[in-house]
Amino acid sequence: MNPAATVTRGTGENTVVGDDARVPIGLTVNGRVRTMTVEPRTTLLDALRDELGLTGTKKACDRGECGACTVHVDGRRLLSCMTLAAMQDGKQITTIEGLERDGNLHAIQAAFIEHDGFQCGFCTPGQIMSAVAMIEEAKADWPSAATTDVGRPFTIAELSAAEIRERMSGNLCRCACYPNIVDAVAEAAARS
Ligand code: FES
Ligand code: FES
Repeated sequence: MNPAATVTRGTGENTVVGDDARVPIGLTVNGRVRTMTVEPRTTLLDALRDELGLTGTKKACDRGECGACTVHVDGRRLLSCMTLAAMQDGKQITTIEGLERDGNLHAIQAAFIEHDGFQCGFCTPGQIMSAVAMIEEAKADWPSAATTDVGRPFTIAELSAAEIRERMSGNLCRCACYPNIVDAVAEAAARS
């Protein structure tokens, strides 16, 4: 037996991981349980795209700078290029493919179309996933760096353009569609 291919999971000791070692994981992706084996170094982004064929989640910088790879993990937004798939074993993952319901676009997807919130579209899945989670954060009274008075609970009614820009600042758009993205998010937030 090749000792370099031996993987001991969960003990935290004497773990030997070789280049060809793979570990079994299970993710619930868009409501469907998916099991696979991945190299320990595989990012969640690569597992989604390469193992599951969910290419809606985009790889751009691959180092946590652009937000194109944003997905939801247990309801919170996360950069999927910055976490290992094995670290998310057992978690609930939502990707852009999982937002529509019965053929109907999510309200934020519809708002992006209505407000022309994209040009090339490469950043758009990450923008939309971030916006969905960001509105939930605002509804949960989370303040941001743009919140003027953090001494009292934030309310969704205070989600100004400045608040949206700050809360979406981790999602870059090389086509510079920012004004339209802010309009789309503002409308979706108001409707929510
Ligand atoms: S691809 Fe993950 S942050 Fe850019
Ligand atoms: S629409 Fe092209 S990068 Fe955002």
